[in-house]
Amino acid sequence: MKIKSIDFSREYDLLKNKLDKKFSTVSSSGGFILGKELIEFEKEFAAYCGVKFAVGVNSGTDALYISLLSLGIGQGDEVIVPDFTYIATAMAVSYTAAVPVFCDIKEDTFEIDPKDLERKITSRTKAIIPVHLYGHPVEMRSILKIAKKHNLKVVEDCAQAHGAKIKGKKVGGFADCGCFSFYPTKNLGCYGDGGIIVTNSDRLYKKILKLRDYGRESKYRHVLIGYNSRLDTLQAGILRIKLEYLDVWNNKRKELAYYYNEYLKGIDEIILPNEKEMHEHVYHVYVARIKKNRDVLIKQLFDLNIPVLIHYPIPCHLQPVYKNLGYKKGDFPVSEMCAKEVMSLPLYPFLKKEEVRFIASSIKKLLLR
Ligand SMILES: Cc1ncc(COP(=O)(O)O)c(C=O)c1O
Repeated sequence: MKIKSIDFSREYDLLKNKLDKKFSTVSSSGGFILGKELIEFEKEFAAYCGVKFAVGVNSGTDALYISLLSLGIGQGDEVIVPDFTYIATAMAVSYTAAVPVFCDIKEDTFEIDPKDLERKITSRTKAIIPVHLYGHPVEMRSILKIAKKHNLKVVEDCAQAHGAKIKGKKVGGFADCGCFSFYPTKNLGCYGDGGIIVTNSDRLYKKILKLRDYGRESKYRHVLIGYNSRLDTLQAGILRIKLEYLDVWNNKRKELAYYYNEYLKGIDEIILPNEKEMHEHVYHVYVARIKKNRDVLIKQLFDLNIPVLIHYPIPCHLQPVYKNLGYKKGDFPVSEMCAKEVMSLPLYPFLKKEEVRFIASSIKKLLLR
């Protein structure tokens, strides 16, 4: 059996008619930039997240960057981010000229560790970016409590967690801003780059609208240095179609993740993903930890046509780009351990149960032989 990390043709087969119709509607309207589909999608996505406002931008990275700018983050400021995340979380901070300050994570859910977070706060700290990594929501209550105590802004990185919930409330609406990516492989992905910012603040909403569109206040009047960072109308049209399936697809991911759990439980060498009570995981990726010789196992799986990815093999503090910040090996023990042990097994809503069975049984055979 040949397994793909993700097979977009299966999704396209299902959506083809609707997508073709949408392409034709948008193309004939000519409203490619800030068109009707975008306006409608922003309303629908805000309603989906249970927040007042949503502003489409051109990527998840820009969503983070523009959110930080809207909160006044810049030169001389520090922003605390988990050390174990996709590099975009940290880079968005760097774009503002503020400094990303890394923080260790919790072993069970890979989320920012509130204890280490408090240790990292200085007089320059202005904001925290908790990341709902892999689709598991961060325990936001403790983060918000720390933020309140130290008067810090909070931006949720929801790039991997569309639809994840804490006690029934969707991520994105807990903090000042919530930032989503629509990179094609995400739980809600478009057919190119895209992102969105959600907020309940009227003031931030108005500022973000300007920041994503050249600081424009009215057609010919520009009041601040803004960007060309708009979500394309066509991408918004595609996202409107896919948003209707998001909950069904998240449930499918969950069902497949539980299949993996069932097949892989009881093997000493593997630590399976955790799901905290009242925290609804949406399994953007299925990440298991392999206590020993992970890279050997991954190579053996590749030889069986099973592509396995690593999110992420190098923690942020050890990335060459951040060498100037002065971190060294050993600074973040949990993050470094996870970077050595994690592996992401194929998981997307159209993956078949027999494919999960084949992947899991191959892993079992390799580990138990
Ligand atoms: C945790 C996290 N933050 C931010 C981003 C950036 O999103 P984008 O690729 O849409 O810029 C990603 C995307 O992979 C991500 O996984």
